[in-house]
Amino acid sequence: MSIDYNEKIPNNVNLAANKTLQRALEHWQPEFLNWWGDMGPEGTRNAEVYLRTAISVEPKGWAHFGYVKMPDYRWGIFLAPAEAGRQVNFGAHKGEPAWQEVPGEYRANLRRLIVTQGDTEPASVEQQRHLGLTCPSLYDLRNLFQVNVEEGRHLWAMVYLLHAHFGRDGREEAEALLERRSGDANNPRILGAFNEPTPDWLAFFMFTYFTDRDGKYQLCSLAESGFDPLARTCRFMLTEEAHHMFVGESGVARVVQRTCETMVANKIDEPAKVRALGVIDLQTIQRYLNFHFSVTMDLFGADVSSNAATFYSSGLKGRYDETKIADDHLLNGATYPVLEVQDGRLVTVQAPALNALNEKLRDDYIQDAAAGVTRWNRVIEKSGVPFRLKVPHKAFHRRIGPLAAAHVDPDGNVVSAAEWEANVDRWLPSDADRAFVASLMGRVVEPGKFANWIAPPSRGVDNQALDFQYVRFN
Ligand SMILES: [Fe+2]
Ligand SMILES: [Fe+2]
Repeated sequence: MSIDYNEKIPNNVNLAANKTLQRALEHWQPEFLNWWGDMGPEGTRNAEVYLRTAISVEPKGWAHFGYVKMPDYRWGIFLAPAEAGRQVNFGAHKGEPAWQEVPGEYRANLRRLIVTQGDTEPASVEQQRHLGLTCPSLYDLRNLFQVNVEEGRHLWAMVYLLHAHFGRDGREEAEALLERRSGDANNPRILGAFNEPTPDWLAFFMFTYFTDRDGKYQLCSLAESGFDPLARTCRFMLTEEAHHMFVGESGVARVVQRTCETMVANKIDEPAKVRALGVIDLQTIQRYLNFHFSVTMDLFGADVSSNAATFYSSGLKGRYDETKIADDHLLNGATYPVLEVQDGRLVTVQAPALNALNEKLRDDYIQDAAAGVTRWNRVIEKSGVPFRLKVPHKAFHRRIGPLAAAHVDPDGNVVSAAEWEANVDRWLPSDADRAFVASLMGRVVEPGKFANWIAPPSRGVDNQALDFQYVRFN
């Protein structure tokens, strides 16, 4: 189906055929735009940004690039094509036709899954709203805004499901998604990592590498859902998500590269000397990595969870790559290893696989996340610097699940509260680290120029040159 951009809300769900739904969404639209004006990228009302906009769900040519004033971005509603004869592929309803409407008995759980996913989308826009003021280049500024508008579209994707399938409750949830605020003491976003500030660009790159990747894993599990509209929505969101993780991976790689080049050229390795040259020492990069990795670990939820078991058994949320796994897709009697603290050390125990689905998804995520860290290390290795970045142990700095009760160092040793206190500034970014990184953040907006602390990317966006005017200020 081709998409009509003259419609108020571009979509491939034939919105025009359902006037009630269309009116409800057109009522929500100005509220969304108010939220965007208040909480979206700061000071961008008149900026024209070279953005990609989704225009179809065809794998080839699903987006086009062009200058857009950000509040005029066309936030559309897109579902990936329906799969003929698709079934519920796991849990108690395995083999039944996939649901096109919400099964009454699962309404509350399904709504909760959609709201929890939906809440992360505006949250990250709020977390990143000041970053445009300290961008290291026009190229990076454009990437930030691309991520922001697409998170806005992901919010639309979830709000569409709420409006289309959950009646009045759904409309109320859609309003509440615009009312919660990241980091607000009284009305915070639902999940912890989405209430942490993203104060500087190193944090932004780490966030898009680690936390948007959590988004990928959550979306992949929801893309397996027996509720077909959710599966199709998430499948299309994943197309956009890939770019967010690219921004993070390439961003950190460029920071690392610039630091290593500076270290080698000046024959220095002490962090203080590295900092004196206006680049970020590798030790600080490691501490940022530890922080973002660990808060993202918590996003997967408790290691043993009866909710996760219920979501799976009812066919609402599958495993990563569910349909590619060769087992019974019921998990009756199966077990899965989880960690516990016993007598001052971590031990592995077997939990029912159904209850350990959060842990399984976390482990799948870790494999993927660790691969990128290996690629960052290749950049360091090539430069000849002996330092290597490391993914911390999954029990490190946890606030959710049984591991939250223990202090665990980045190598996976349980340590005392006193040891933790004595070392925490070596493991996590200290106020001084954050102040140093903040001190480097200026605003570089001359085409083709890059801040001193980051290397230029290897290529521009959409085959444009590095000195292309990615953002026009009016
Ligand atoms: Fe998203
Ligand atoms: Fe994202």
